Formats: sequence, C-alpha cells, structure tokens
Amino acid sequence: MTGPTLDARAVALLSCPVCRAPFAVVDGGAGLACASGHRVDRARQGHLTLLPAGRRPPTGDSAEMVADRVAFLSAGHYDPLTAALRDAVAGDGPAPQTLVDLGGGTGHHLAALLDALPDAVGLVLDASRYAARRAARAHPRAVAVVADAWSRLPLLDEVADRVLVVFAPRNGAEIARVLRPGGRLVVATPAPDHLAEVVGPLGLLRVDPDKAERLAATLGPHLQPVRSTAHRWTASLDRSAVATLVGMGPHARHLPAGALAASLERFPARLEVTVSVDVATYAPAG
Ligand SMILES: C[S@@+](CC[C@H](N)C(=O)[O-])C[C@H]1O[C@@H](n2cnc3c(N)ncnc32)[C@H](O)[C@@H]1O
Repeated sequence: MTGPTLDARAVALLSCPVCRAPFAVVDGGAGLACASGHRVDRARQGHLTLLPAGRRPPTGDSAEMVADRVAFLSAGHYDPLTAALRDAVAGDGPAPQTLVDLGGGTGHHLAALLDALPDAVGLVLDASRYAARRAARAHPRAVAVVADAWSRLPLLDEVADRVLVVFAPRNGAEIARVLRPGGRLVVATPAPDHLAEVVGPLGLLRVDPDKAERLAATLGPHLQPVRSTAHRWTASLDRSAVATLVGMGPHARHLPAGALAASLERFPARLEVTVSVDVATYAPAG
C-alpha cells in the first residue's frame, strides 16, 4: 500500500457493508475492521472497496476516460463549476465538516472544496477503480472508496453535512439516509445547451437534459428542493481539449474507432464551447 495516510475522521463516516457497524483504521492504515471482525484491506493505490457481499462493482469510467477527465479538469476548463459548487456547499448554516462526493470520479471538485474548508473531511465514492486510484491521492483529508451509488451506501446514518453529485447517479433514499439533519445535497446537472457546439457537429449521444422537475421527481419523496442556480460560461478549447472532453464522457464508448479523430479534422483549431450547468440544493424531506 503506497497511498497517503487514511484520515480517521473520514473513515469514521463509513459502515461495514456486511454488518453495517462502524469501521476503524487497523494495521497502521493497511485496512479497516469493524467490531464484528469484518476486515477490508486497502488497495496498493490507496483506495478501499466497500461493496455489498457478493456484489461486483458496476461499470464505472474506464482507465482512458479517467485519464481524459484528469487532463480536462486539471486544465481548468470546469473551474467555474468548481467555484459554483464551493458557493453551494458553503451556503445553509455553519461550515460543513463532512462531505461525500457520490460518483465523485477523480476527486477533483472535492479536493478544491476541502481546500476551502480547512476543518472538513471528505469521501469520494465511485464505481470505477481507476477513478478511485486517482481520488485516493486527491487530498490528504479525503478517502476514496469503490462503491455502487445504486446499492446501500457504505456509510453510517446521518453522517454527511453535504452530499455532492456532479454529473453522476443519485439515489435519493440513500442520500437522505446519510445526510445529517440540516444537511444538504448539492447536485450539478447539464442544461439542454450544455456543450452544444461539440455535441451537435460530432453527432454525439445527446444526454437527456435533467429538467428541474424530472430531477425533483427522481429525488422525491426523500429530498425537497431548496434552490437552483444556472451557471453558463464559454470554454475556449483547442482540438486536443475537445478530444479529451469527448473522451471523458459517456459519448466515447459509442463512437466507432477513428471516428472522433476524423470528425475533429473538420473542426476549427479553436472552438468556443458553451458549458451550461444547473447547481441545485436539496434538503432531507420531512
Ligand atoms: C461523468 S463522471 C463525473 C465524475 C465527477 N463527479 C466529476 O464531475 O468529475 C460520472 C462518474 O460516475 C461514476 N459512476 C457511474 N455509475 C456509478 C455507480 N453506479 N456508482 C458509483 N459511481 C458511478 C463513474 O465511474 C464516473 O466517475
């Protein structure tokens, strides 16, 4: 195991997928164990895998998609989204202490949020072990876990001040279970014009835009909307950045080999691309 030290405060949010008891760090950070003796070894790359017994991880992002996500996000093209998440997370009462990023990918956004919240700890839960490997090194106060957003989350009840879901699956019942009273879900979803200059000309799968009503319907009756803010900016992308943008998304898997490169030849050397994202806040219902 070569990853950074496991943050014990972040580990304290986790629950054993077998018996649902709390976990503690054991063997100097080599793994976790619960009071019933169920033990999870930490991967060499630093992440943990906490799936219900007998469950294989769902299909998460591939190694290539994760590499493209790292390149695209670290170039700063989605920094306004990170700033919008920072504002949304900071709203609503005292500074949050515990953040959970569900489908959190490489931990890029969570790391920036933790930088702004010096007393907070965070967890990245993602189906992709390639993403979890990156997330394990995203921030010293973050712990990365391979988990399935559609199963029972490997988290204790009422431990999260904020759950983040950024372009990822959301499970309303489980999110409501793990939020503390007064906690908030912050969810980022693409608006209908998101990436229009790329999606249209490349004939990419048009991801069904998450209409506010449909999003609220998928989260109810567990969570109720508090507010939603539209964020729209232009990213100036060269062809290589467009290629990584496409490569990190769901479109990549559906394009025939070589099709993207051929299409990009017809693109201008630099393209102004609309990024259009709604950031909504939800509170536990009732
Ligand atoms: C579009 S990416 C967004 C990643 C990250 N939130 C970000 O904005 O950089 C969607 C993420 O959801 C993850 N994912 C897909 N299905 C999942 C599931 N059932 N449980 C957990 N994560 C899942 C993928 O592996 C991927 O990292």
